[in-house]
Amino acid sequence: MNAPPLLPVPLPSGAAADDDLAHSVQVISSLEQIVAGWDETQQLTVRALKGAIEDLHKSALQRLIRALKDDPAAGARLRAALADPVIYAVLRFHELVKASLGERVEQALAEVRPLLETHGGGVELVAILPPDTVELRLTGACHGCPASGQTLAEGVEKALRAHCPEIVHIRQVSRAAAAAADAVHFVSPFAAPGQSGWTTAITLAEIPEAGIVERTLVGRSLLFARRGEQVSCFDNRCAHLGMPLDSSAVSAGVITCSYHGFQYSLATGECLTAPEVQLRVYPVRLIGGRVDVQLGR
Ligand code: FES
Repeated sequence: MNAPPLLPVPLPSGAAADDDLAHSVQVISSLEQIVAGWDETQQLTVRALKGAIEDLHKSALQRLIRALKDDPAAGARLRAALADPVIYAVLRFHELVKASLGERVEQALAEVRPLLETHGGGVELVAILPPDTVELRLTGACHGCPASGQTLAEGVEKALRAHCPEIVHIRQVSRAAAAAADAVHFVSPFAAPGQSGWTTAITLAEIPEAGIVERTLVGRSLLFARRGEQVSCFDNRCAHLGMPLDSSAVSAGVITCSYHGFQYSLATGECLTAPEVQLRVYPVRLIGGRVDVQLGR
C-alpha cells in the first residue's frame, strides 16, 4: 500500500472543538476526500473499520437510551438533551431519533418539488408555526393558477401529511396577501432578498428591551436581542471557547461573555475584543409581534 497523504485540516482538539459540529463535519468530509483517492483495498479497509466503529457506537447508544427511557425523569432529560445539535446530529445519523419537524417539512417539500417543476411551478416554505401549522407559498406557474389550490391539496398537502402527521393546518400564503398584510416591520440586514424557510421563534414581547433571551429552535440554542423593533439572533455560543452566552451581562448594546470577558455587539455579532471572530448571525424578520428566523442548513 502507498503511504496515505497527510491531513489537510487539523483534527479538533479540546472540548470546544469536539463540540463544534461544523468543524467535525468539515474534518470528516476532508478525511473522506482523502480516502476517496486511495486504492480500492485501502478504501475497503477504511470502510470496514468505519462501519465497525459506527455499529459499536450505535449499539452502545441504543443500550443507553433503553436504560434511560423507562425512567420518566431520565427520559425527559434525554429528550431535552436533543436540543444539543451535536447530540441530535449523532442520534439522527444512527437513526435513533426521528427527524425534527423542520427537517420533515423540508423533506416533504423536496419530495413534491419535482412534480411542481414539471408544471413550471414551485413551493416555498414561508413559516412553521408550532405545534401544528405550516405556511407555504406557491411560486412560478402554480402562483395564481386557478388549479393551484387543488395542486396544493393533492400534492403538497399529501406529502406534508405523510411526513408530518402532527401538522393540522396548511395555509397557502399568496403574494398578494403577504403584500396586503405588509406586516414585516423589520428584516435584519443579514437576510438575503427572496429567501424562504422562515421559522417562527419567539414573540417580540418575550425579548426584554435592550436585553437578551435564549430559545431552543430545531435543536439549536439561539440568543435573541432587541432594541425597540431591531431584533437580532445569534448562536448562543461564544466565539472564544463556545460557552453559552445567555447568562452574560448586557450593557449599551454590548454583551460580555461571563467566562473570559469577550465582548460582542448585539446589533451585528461583531467581536469587539478579537475582531477576527464573531458570533454566528441568523437573519430575522418581525411580522406583527412575531419574530421569525431563517436558520438555513
Ligand atoms: S468562552 Fe471565553 S470569552 Fe466566552
